[in-house]
Amino acid sequence: MSRRARDLRTRYTVADLCALSADEARRFLRSGPGDPRVDLPLAWELLYRLEPELYDRLASAERLHRALLRWLPSDVDRVVEVGAGTGRLTLELLGRAREIVAVEPAQPLREILARKLRGAEHGDRVRVTAGFFDDLPLPDSWSDVVVACSALTPEPGHGGDAGLEEMERVCKPGGCVAIVWPNNVAWLEGHGYRHISFAGEMFVEFASPEDAAELAEIFYPGAVAEIRRRGEQRVSFDTLGINPPRDAAFKVMAA
Ligand SMILES: C[S@@+](CC[C@H](N)C(=O)[O-])C[C@H]1O[C@@H](n2cnc3c(N)ncnc32)[C@H](O)[C@@H]1O
Repeated sequence: MSRRARDLRTRYTVADLCALSADEARRFLRSGPGDPRVDLPLAWELLYRLEPELYDRLASAERLHRALLRWLPSDVDRVVEVGAGTGRLTLELLGRAREIVAVEPAQPLREILARKLRGAEHGDRVRVTAGFFDDLPLPDSWSDVVVACSALTPEPGHGGDAGLEEMERVCKPGGCVAIVWPNNVAWLEGHGYRHISFAGEMFVEFASPEDAAELAEIFYPGAVAEIRRRGEQRVSFDTLGINPPRDAAFKVMAA
């Protein structure tokens, strides 16, 4: 039985910061107070490293809008995905490109992604590698599509302006940079990105009603009472109080 607090906001302490490598600490501790109990993005970073399977249970339940997936390019030579995590988007991109590079800084997430790819059709077309938004291990103009899903934010440690510039550097002229499920559309629009959103009510598909309640206690404590009352494994994003993964911001690079 874990002795950790349930709620992600109090789950980790400064004693857990040793899970970060020097490169990670330099990025993730640069702007905040360095305490995961008051710095929620830092708590997420610790989750990826200390309890990666728990994160994967959540990400697997929060599926991307089908129309958004159809909108993404389906037949290109190369795709780069940055902040690929355990592959929520990566696995949807298989078969759409001859070569995919999935960049992910957290080693435990890379391991889960590599495991999933081993069992997947076209999984051998994906190279999983370490890297950060602001320092991508790829040459200029290498990729037709450069994408990130629920990963890039305006904060420098999670990409910021430098990370967006890096994504554009790696993208071919005439190619597309796409930020899926962006957390700050205005910032991206300020950098010349267009916003697209797909309609329809969306649900998180938990594995069971018990799974819904358990994960909500950690990630959506404000929704636990309602989730328990309904006793369903399918929970609308409205109930959770977050915007659903239905949108993207994109820029076609000048040819
Ligand atoms: C919410 S998860 C999303 C993961 C995956 N894209 C998905 O949709 O399931 C955020 C991801 O961004 C990655 N990340 C955070 N900071 C990063 C950085 N500076 N450079 C690259 N990736 C970063 C994290 O390691 C994590 O995998």
